[in-house]
Amino acid sequence: MSSSWSQLANLVAAVLFILALKGLSSPKSARNGNLLGAAGALLATVVLFFSGIKLSNLLLIIAAILVGSAIGGISARRVKMTQMPQLVALFNGVGGGAAALISVVEYLEAGAGEPVALAATVFTVVVGSISFSGSIVTFLKLQELMTSRPVIVPAGRFVTILVAAATLVAAVWLVAAPQTWLLVALLVLSLVLGILFVLPVGGADVPIVISLLNAFTGLSVAASGYVLGNVLLIIAGTLVGASGTLLTREMAKAMGRPITATLFGAFNGTTAGGSGTGDPDRPVRSASPNDVAIMLAYAAKVILVPGYGLAVAQAQGTLRELADLLTARGVEVDYAIHPVAGRMPGHMNVLLAEASVPYEQLKEMDEINPEFAMTDVVLVVGANDVVNPAARTDKSAPIYGMPILNVDQAQQVVFLKRSMRPGFAGIENEVLFDPKTTLLFGDAKDSLTKVVAALKAL
Ligand code: TAP
Repeated sequence: MSSSWSQLANLVAAVLFILALKGLSSPKSARNGNLLGAAGALLATVVLFFSGIKLSNLLLIIAAILVGSAIGGISARRVKMTQMPQLVALFNGVGGGAAALISVVEYLEAGAGEPVALAATVFTVVVGSISFSGSIVTFLKLQELMTSRPVIVPAGRFVTILVAAATLVAAVWLVAAPQTWLLVALLVLSLVLGILFVLPVGGADVPIVISLLNAFTGLSVAASGYVLGNVLLIIAGTLVGASGTLLTREMAKAMGRPITATLFGAFNGTTAGGSGTGDPDRPVRSASPNDVAIMLAYAAKVILVPGYGLAVAQAQGTLRELADLLTARGVEVDYAIHPVAGRMPGHMNVLLAEASVPYEQLKEMDEINPEFAMTDVVLVVGANDVVNPAARTDKSAPIYGMPILNVDQAQQVVFLKRSMRPGFAGIENEVLFDPKTTLLFGDAKDSLTKVVAALKAL
């Protein structure tokens, strides 16, 4: 392929990446955005294939494309929606690792090169390796292959600072006096640093770190683009770096936690993820599906609050059926969407879009919060932390400062959950014990199916 054609194709791919990000910013256009991004990546791969590869490596490249596509395709098809964050962590880590390895190979094959290129190589190795090993640890945590709670290494803060300082010294030394053993040492130190960086992060903070590591991968890919002289890698990497950084900020803001508290919280003992479950004998009011159906049917205004448990139960279709039945009876129904309900950004939007819930019925937290005081019944389906008033009042709570949905201001609150176990943050929710609260115990899909049947029979 001639160089002007490949440049034009790269420009088209870059525009596709930008349009993809734009599309992903709204649930309505997200599917198209995703397709545009995939088309851009395909175009970039094809261009590289026909313009830049060594024929001697052809078989290896084709084998790598086939194996990579098969693993990516099968795992993306099989993964459950609730396991998406760990899949993202794994794919992201592999991206960072690949960028680091490419820079190492480039160093070994083409030599150290001029100082700026060498500095880019060093940057890619450090940041890509941190992203790789850190992402693997987050994957293990979220997949529960290791504890998801913060792991405190003895003298952790000191060891981490020591390894970080050694990494910095090795990086500067390598740029000043290139030597292969130093490159290997830098690789190992960076991998250890990635592990030390993520081990003390636990609970609700893990997905924020995934997003941050995603930004790291983007930056390392951009730097590897400089090393390889590939402009498209620089553009794509910068886009990932910038969007990952913005997402990290937004998530930390939505959880009411400064990013430093997320990263260094465990060292200071302030990580999100408590363990208290309180007094197991405190009385609560429970009801039958029939009671809940009657409460809902005779309300004028109902707000549905979906949370992580809705995703676990895969009850989005049944929830929509309930909403449709209530609407048909003349009840005003809205869905209240908390920005960090579930386990990943946009989790509830994706889930409800699967059930074809009209976007107009989804109301963001700031929009719906003033409406709770005028609402007859709030039905909380598998949500807990995002409606826990401890976030407003209890300074010792790990979720303190997180804006919540004000369900406690409604006339009546109904919780669908399986037990009295707390949510992700591991702390008790006083609304469960409020006299105006009713609990319907059971799997959300089971309970909703029974409420729907009871409603139809009214
Ligand atoms: P949680 O506070 O985790 O509560 C989930 C509730 O669902 C629990 O009360 C659980 O109680 C119930 N549940 C689980 N499986 C169920 C099932 N099959 N049927 C019925 N109920 C079920 O969820 P949330 O309110 O959505 O809050 C999200 C939490 O995750 C927040 O702490 C947030 O900070 C954190 N987080 C979110 C994100 C993003 S970006 N979304 C990222 C990181 C962390 P039972 O076990 O008793 O059933």
